[in-house]
Amino acid sequence: MPYTLSVNGKSTSVDVPADMPLLWVLRDVLNLKGTKYGCGVGQCGACTVHLRGRPVRSCQTPISATAGAPITTVEGLSADGSHPVQRAWMEIDVPQCGYCQAGQIMSAAALLAQKPKPTDADIDEAMTGNICRCGTYLRIRQAIHRAADMSRTRTTTSEPARKSGDR
Ligand code: FES
Ligand code: FES
Repeated sequence: MPYTLSVNGKSTSVDVPADMPLLWVLRDVLNLKGTKYGCGVGQCGACTVHLRGRPVRSCQTPISATAGAPITTVEGLSADGSHPVQRAWMEIDVPQCGYCQAGQIMSAAALLAQKPKPTDADIDEAMTGNICRCGTYLRIRQAIHRAADMSRTRTTTSEPARKSGDR
């Protein structure tokens, strides 16, 4: 069945079954490989994208639930990697193997859009569904605070990064 989608600000049509997960459409039909397949059952968060500005597990989101709604993937977070979350992630060197990180970044960006100055408790609550097998959780928390600072001050890399201490 044909669906018109709005992905990363572009309108596109796909002809797929109504129950095909958004993750499949993104990766296999639209060739947007930044969003990862982890567990496939809504438990790991690797497949997180924004739907109507909210983080969703794309492996659990049928394409029929997305028609016409704005979808943002990690490729669409910024045109040039300049989103504060992306800059903070690079500055603090968050990833280890990297597999979970697109999902982590999308959950973090959604959190900051809702709460520009999140507490540690806010971060823990928002990020609890994003699993990292490499255990980068402390750097993720530091990077979210750093991204919040960047968003407030509109600076790039002029402020010192927080100490990581987790590797
Ligand atoms: S792949 Fe979707 S939550 Fe794990
Ligand atoms: S960086 Fe390896 S799973 Fe998160």
